[in-house]
Amino acid sequence: EKGLRVQDKGFLNTAVIRSEITYIDGEAGVLRYRGYPIEQLASHSSHLESAYLLIYGSLPTREQFKHFESEVMRHGVMHADTEGFFRSFRYDAHPMSMLTSAFSMLGSYYSEANPSLQGQRLYTNGDQASLATMDRQIYRLIGKATALAAMAYRVRQGRDFVTPPVGLSYTGSFLYQMDHLGEENYTPNPVLEKALDVLFLIHADHELNASCTTVLQTASSLVDPYSAIAAGCASLYGPLHGGANEAVIRMLVSIGSPENVPAFIEAVKRREKTLSGFGHRVYKTSDPRSFIVRKTADEVFKVTGRDALLETAMALHDAAMKDEYFIKRKLAPNVDFCGLIYRAMGFPMDFFPVLFVVPRVVGWLAHWRQMMLQEGGVKIWRPRQVYVGAGKRDYVPVEQRV
Ligand code: SDX
Repeated sequence: EKGLRVQDKGFLNTAVIRSEITYIDGEAGVLRYRGYPIEQLASHSSHLESAYLLIYGSLPTREQFKHFESEVMRHGVMHADTEGFFRSFRYDAHPMSMLTSAFSMLGSYYSEANPSLQGQRLYTNGDQASLATMDRQIYRLIGKATALAAMAYRVRQGRDFVTPPVGLSYTGSFLYQMDHLGEENYTPNPVLEKALDVLFLIHADHELNASCTTVLQTASSLVDPYSAIAAGCASLYGPLHGGANEAVIRMLVSIGSPENVPAFIEAVKRREKTLSGFGHRVYKTSDPRSFIVRKTADEVFKVTGRDALLETAMALHDAAMKDEYFIKRKLAPNVDFCGLIYRAMGFPMDFFPVLFVVPRVVGWLAHWRQMMLQEGGVKIWRPRQVYVGAGKRDYVPVEQRV
C-alpha cells in the first residue's frame, strides 16, 4: 500500500471525476448549472428546461424542449401492475423505502436498458442506437419519478392511483397525481405549482453529493440505470443528506417555540442535539439555494398563511448565525429549510425527502450519462484502504480459546 493516504473520513477534499455539469464555489456561495447561475435559472427557467440543460449541456431550442417535454410526459404513465407492487408494503411504510424499491422494480420492465442482458458496450460506445436507448431511460426515469412518488403517497391512504390528464406541466401533473389536498378534481394553483417547480429546479443537481456519488459508484459496474438510481435514492434517505428536510421540521416541532431556542442551541453545543438544516460539506457560507427557498416561502405563505413554526425557525436561524460556536465552524443554513414550504403546501413530513428525490433524479441521470460517455470509457470505482488490522496469526481451535 505504498503511498496510499487515507483521505480521512468521508472523502474530504477528494475529487473522483472531471465534470462539466455543476459548479459550486463553497467559499463564495456560488452554484451554477452548466455555467448558468442558479438565481437566474430559478427566475427565468423551469425544472424541465433546466433538466434538459443539465443532461445535454445547453439550453434547449423551442423544438428541442417540445420533444424532450413530450417524451418525458409520455413516459410518465405507469404499468397497472405497479399499483400491486406498492400495495404489498405495510400500510405505514416510509415512502422513501417504497420509492427506493420502486426504482429497482422499474428496471425489471425494461430489459433493453440492462447492459448485463444487452452486452457490456450498451451505453459506452456513443453510437446513435445506444444514445437513443440512453435517452429513453432518461425520459422514463424523469417521467415516472412523479408517478412512483404519487403512488407511494396514495397507496398509504388506501386511495387508487389517478392518471393525470394530458396537457398539465410536469409539476402540475405531479400535484394532480398526488392530489395531496384531497380535492378529487384537482384545480391547479399557479402560485403553488410555480413554487414547487422552483424548488424542484434548485434541487435538481449539486455535483458529487453523497447520493450522486452512490449513483456513479453503482453505475461504474455497468449495472442498469434503474438499479443505480435506486442506490442513490437509498443514500439520499439518510438524515445527514436528503432526509434532513424532514429532520428540520421534526426538530422545529420538538423545540416548540422561539422561547425554547436558546436552550436548544446550548444542547447542540454540548453535542446532545443536531441542528438539522445547518452546515454543509462544501458551502462555508450560506447555501445560495437557501435565499431562493426564503423568497419562495414568502410567495407560498401569501397563499397558505404563515406556519407557526416559522417564528421558531427564524429565531433559530438568528441565534445560530450570531453564535461563535457556529460561526467558527462556518455553519450556515442549507437548502433543507424548504421543509417549511412543503409543510405549508400540505405534504406529510415523511414525504419531504421524496420531494428531494423527484427532482434529483435529473442530476443523477446527467452525471450517469456524462460518465457513460466519458473519454476512454467507464472505469469501475474501486478505491483502496490502508489496512490497520491484526498482523498474520495462526488459527486457534475452539477448545483453546478463552
Ligand atoms: C444536503 O453534499 C451536498 O451537496 C448535499 C446537498 C445536496 O444538494 O445534495 O446540499 C443536500 O444534504 C444538505 C445537508 C443536509 N444535512 C443536514 O442539514 C444535517 C445537519 N448537517 C450536518 O450533519 C453536517 O453539516 C453535514 C453532514 C451536512 C456536513 O458534515 P461534514 O462536512 O462532515 O462536517 P462535519 O460533520 O465534519 O462538521 C464540522 C464541524 C463539526 O464540529 P467539530 O467536531 O469539528 O467540533 O461542524 C459541526 C461538527 O460537529 N457541525 C454541526 C453541524 N454540522 C456540522 N454541529 C451542529 N449542527 C450541525 N448541523
